Amino acid sequence: MLEARGFKPNFLITMTNDKLNRIQRRRSWAEPYKIKVVEPLKLTTRAEREQAIAQAGYNTFLLRSEDVYIDLLTDSGTSAMSDYQWAGMMLGDEAYAGSKNFYFLEATIQKYYGYQYIVPTHQGRGAENILSQILIKPGDYIPGNMYFTTTRLHQELAGGTFVDVIIDEAHDATSLHPFKGNVDLQKLTDLIEQVGAERIPYISVAGTVNMAGGQPISMANLRAVYQLAQTHGIRVILDATRAVENAYFIQRQEEGYNQEAIATILREFCSYTDGCTMSGKKDALVNIGGWLALNDDDIYEEARNRVVIYEGLHTYGGMAGRDMEAMGRGIEESVQDDHIRARVGQVEYLGQKLLDWHIPVVVPIGGHAIYLDAKRFLPHISQDEFAAQRLAAELYLEAGIRTMERGIVSAGRNKETGDNYYPELELVRLTIPRRVYTQAHMDLTAEAVEEVYYNRDRLGGLKMVYEPKYLRFFQARFELL
Ligand SMILES: Cc1ncc(COP(=O)(O)O)c(C=O)c1O
Repeated sequence: MLEARGFKPNFLITMTNDKLNRIQRRRSWAEPYKIKVVEPLKLTTRAEREQAIAQAGYNTFLLRSEDVYIDLLTDSGTSAMSDYQWAGMMLGDEAYAGSKNFYFLEATIQKYYGYQYIVPTHQGRGAENILSQILIKPGDYIPGNMYFTTTRLHQELAGGTFVDVIIDEAHDATSLHPFKGNVDLQKLTDLIEQVGAERIPYISVAGTVNMAGGQPISMANLRAVYQLAQTHGIRVILDATRAVENAYFIQRQEEGYNQEAIATILREFCSYTDGCTMSGKKDALVNIGGWLALNDDDIYEEARNRVVIYEGLHTYGGMAGRDMEAMGRGIEESVQDDHIRARVGQVEYLGQKLLDWHIPVVVPIGGHAIYLDAKRFLPHISQDEFAAQRLAAELYLEAGIRTMERGIVSAGRNKETGDNYYPELELVRLTIPRRVYTQAHMDLTAEAVEEVYYNRDRLGGLKMVYEPKYLRFFQARFELL
């Protein structure tokens, strides 16, 4: 089918014989698990999908999950748990206070992430809320390696202003920089000189960087950020949501780390930060949960006070005992080298397929998702007509595949001027849940993307007809132009 359309796989065009031989000799990775329980998927007709997406206002967040065939909306809370985790669920100690599962979770986080104090929260944004309230004063600036939606909103609600200090390459979907999540130390230094260190409560560093395409930050860069921060008395707070995936890229790509275990790399990585917020719904292989981790007694004391207001007592933070047990066990599994190699391997399998078919995606392929570059995919649809939002809707129409916009809708508006942000990256994220789909699902997904790409000239844009005040991408509604 593809050959007939004039496609020639990339590697056949560009590879030398030597490289081809090497690829043919390469051994495949395979999942280090087998399937014990299955969940049936529903197939829908095109007519049913047309009705469903129109009812959802062309917003994939507003679809009902039972109308979706392959759900690549997010990797958040969508992992398949192992038998070890499910067995742990039966050991839930549901006491209001002092659950034994909390102490197990606390010890596990201390062991693998290395922080001293742990405050459990129902998910990542619970931790972001508490941390932002404690550390940020009105008028403060928070530099970071690209914004994340909920993180920036909590910083703004606390009176702060987020400042992007990621390297320029991160905003270029075609740049092959191996660590596009790196902080630009010059941009950071300039900001410190401009506003003064006392107005920067912390540097917000994410590994990997979701909005840049799941791109990693290098160990050397984080170490340098930490050193610079220390000379100015500024804290570094890690968004550790996908730090294990980040550790995998360090192991594979950074000099001096390819003989180190993922668990060792993760510990060193976190040691260059003063604390972290965490959405356990990603790396930690659970459907709900998160935490705030700190090394500073005073901030911990304040966080323990505040968690009671927003999340629950400091020994459950909005989670059931069984959920804390499953998360602790999930952390143990997440740092296994064979797990993480297969996890990122599956993402790369899909990404390579699309690259071979010359479909414009963000490169290098990131840790948790493939990002279609809507600016190159649909060059005839402007950002004001929501190219990525339209593309996400079309993938659903084509094959029942649910994805997510990561462009102008997600970027929202400037809190001072009310103007739309126009991010360089106008993307559709195909996020791969952990341990859920098979290689055949990836093949089908790639074919659906290719079909939409082939017919791309027929697509028009959208207009927004309802815009919520906060995090508009979740609930905004659109109509076809
Ligand atoms: C990088 C990053 N930080 C923070 C969050 C927020 O976590 P949660 O969805 O658990 O509130 C997410 C997930 O959406 C994320 O991807």
